[in-house]
Amino acid sequence: MQKIISKVLITGVAGFIGSNLLDYLYENTAWQIDGVDNLSTGNKKNIEHHLNDNRFTFLEKECKDLASLKDYDIVFHLAALPRIQPSFERVNEHVEANLYQAIHLIELMILDSHYPRFVFSGSSAIYGTPEQIPTPETEKVDCLSPYAFQKYEFERYLELISTRYPLNYISLRYFNPYGNRSFNPDNSFSAYSSVVGIFLNRKREGKQLLVTGDGQQKRDFIHVADLAKANYLSGIHPEKLNTAFNVGLGETLSVLDLAKLIDGENFEFIEKREGESEITFADTAKIRSILGWEPSMNIKDYLAIELA
Ligand SMILES: NC(=O)c1ccc[n+]([C@@H]2O[C@H](COP(=O)([O-])OP(=O)(O)OC[C@H]3O[C@@H](n4cnc5c(N)ncnc54)[C@H](O)[C@@H]3O)[C@@H](O)[C@H]2O)c1
Repeated sequence: MQKIISKVLITGVAGFIGSNLLDYLYENTAWQIDGVDNLSTGNKKNIEHHLNDNRFTFLEKECKDLASLKDYDIVFHLAALPRIQPSFERVNEHVEANLYQAIHLIELMILDSHYPRFVFSGSSAIYGTPEQIPTPETEKVDCLSPYAFQKYEFERYLELISTRYPLNYISLRYFNPYGNRSFNPDNSFSAYSSVVGIFLNRKREGKQLLVTGDGQQKRDFIHVADLAKANYLSGIHPEKLNTAFNVGLGETLSVLDLAKLIDGENFEFIEKREGESEITFADTAKIRSILGWEPSMNIKDYLAIELA
């Protein structure tokens, strides 16, 4: 029987994906929504259109300062420092944000013996350079960066701790998200945000697009509204699954082709970045069959609308 859901928590609510999830839940449910964010990389502007809504409460704080999750039926855990390159440079800060603060949430659940559905924002970065293309969830783990390793580690903590406590979790391994608010110029890590947002922003500013390496690296671009839908479907799924799902379009586009679609020949090549995969390409059979999720937006259609 489906559980009645009345109140949920979104961590990282002022970020790119968190704020889009807030919009999605606001439109598609009648739930009370608390959102926590320390505004380290997020921006209050992303959620300002909800700040006076009586169904939404914004808590400006760290995840580690949450004292209880007792009030919530679902916790959507998105808060993180989600950039590959900075995770090599400021390692402890990333371990703290991506692992310790997330483990604090598990400890709260154990402390209160209250186990809301916990939907974790994982990453396809854990596959590194995959052997299987398209890549199913069973692909071997090949972390090429501290960020990828932290995402993987936390999945393992969920798995291990659920052998002793009744955790009720789903990990969503996002491929390459894009969409509204992906580019935040105030974020000191903005140079490493979604290439789609960066390219569109440079075109708007009349600047040449910068393609890393030879641009042949391929990405599976997934629209943020489709990620929000995957979170929602994970939240309401009636059974305990304790598993991971890929969330991607199931198609790839090279970064060079993306640049050409956005701005013709107005690009130049810059140095390749280490620690990044040559290809991301999701096998989405599992999420389609178990959660009934389908993507609704294709990157080429999105660009046609954005550039019209
Ligand atoms: N954007 C991507 O390319 C991508 C790809 C795969 C997975 N993900 C995952 O999706 C989630 C959301 O990513 P995003 O792109 O929206 O990033 P983002 O940086 O826009 O949002 C993250 C939010 O978390 C907040 N935050 C960080 N540490 C916090 C803490 N300790 N306490 C409270 N708030 C904190 C930040 O201020 C920010 O608003 C992350 O978990 C990320 O790892 C993102």
